[in-house]
Amino acid sequence: MIAPLKILITGGLGFIGSNFIRYMLSEYPDYRIINLDKVGLGANQNNLKDIENDERYRFIKGSVTNCRLISSLIKNIDVIINFAAETHVDRSIANPKQFFFSNTLGVFTILEALREHNPKATFIHISTDETYGDIREGSFNEESRLKPSNPYSASKAAADMFILAYHRTYNLNTFILRPTNNFGPYQFPEKLIPKTIIRASRNLPIPIYGKGTNIRDWLYVIDTCKAIELIMHKGEPGEIYNISAGNEYSNIEVVKKILKAMDKPETLITFVEDRPGHDVRYSLDSTKIRKLGWRPQYGFEEALKDTVKWYMENEWWWKPLASKKILSPTPWRLRW
Ligand SMILES: NC(=O)c1ccc[n+]([C@@H]2O[C@H](COP(=O)([O-])OP(=O)(O)OC[C@H]3O[C@@H](n4cnc5c(N)ncnc54)[C@H](O)[C@@H]3O)[C@@H](O)[C@H]2O)c1
Repeated sequence: MIAPLKILITGGLGFIGSNFIRYMLSEYPDYRIINLDKVGLGANQNNLKDIENDERYRFIKGSVTNCRLISSLIKNIDVIINFAAETHVDRSIANPKQFFFSNTLGVFTILEALREHNPKATFIHISTDETYGDIREGSFNEESRLKPSNPYSASKAAADMFILAYHRTYNLNTFILRPTNNFGPYQFPEKLIPKTIIRASRNLPIPIYGKGTNIRDWLYVIDTCKAIELIMHKGEPGEIYNISAGNEYSNIEVVKKILKAMDKPETLITFVEDRPGHDVRYSLDSTKIRKLGWRPQYGFEEALKDTVKWYMENEWWWKPLASKKILSPTPWRLRW
């Protein structure tokens, strides 16, 4: 029997964090969760509307860069799981500074608070496959060199370095998880899969960067939640774990699959100017976490169909978030 835990989640109003909180509360009736989120871009109170009155759950508005706040919260917890981050690569190219603050300085603030107030607590950090940069052939394992391509991935890679150093120097109980591209319910409408579903549902042109040949390895968000759950209970402190399902598809293949699932024509696809430094292919070797017993439980096609269905049935959720741009009749891209 696993003892009830007090968990601090940071960035829990975002896509993966909110899915994780709902998942954990349903799996572990005794666990208590505090969710600290600055309510920035990507955050949405509606993501956790169904549990906001659950007595096991408490929301606090604030930033991971706030030393006093983080220190006071960290004193009384068993586990901290950091999802808080600025996550939109295009926005990191347009305006990088905020990425450094939340993604790097935020992690540094957490590490300092742990060092001073609760060095025995478990710290699980959600990093990303993007820290490795791209790879034309083969797959990165946890020993591969980090080679970030844009300010977002650089800010995440820098945070990982601090975590490794704080484990080594101060013996903090740290775990770094590097998942690939997630998809599923509650993902912000600007991201590829929700944006495609939303625009296709309105018969609007679907913008694709460059030729659409960039490859991503897609992971259903509940599989990510299960991986985090496993590491929390069975991971080895100081280690890094890649999480990937092996669903490697080019962006255009993903868009075509969505259009097919929605019975929409491929003529909706429109090519727009490519993003600077656009990574060609991501691919991770996840043997290490699989040896601990994790496997993706959702097939890509089925999970994609479920995701399409979820967006079609939950317009109340995405409509208030869909900016004019998402619903504009002409395809668009951000200005760098
Ligand atoms: N979505 C993916 O495909 C993916 C893949 C690999 C890794 N990740 C990582 O997983 C984590 C969660 O990603 P997501 O897609 O759920 O992101 P998201 O953008 O949906 O959510 C991020 C959340 O962090 C909060 N936040 C940002 N800065 C903060 C700060 N300074 N203090 C407190 N809260 C802050 C935002 O308000 C938001 O609620 C991120 O760290 C991201 O780098 C995401």
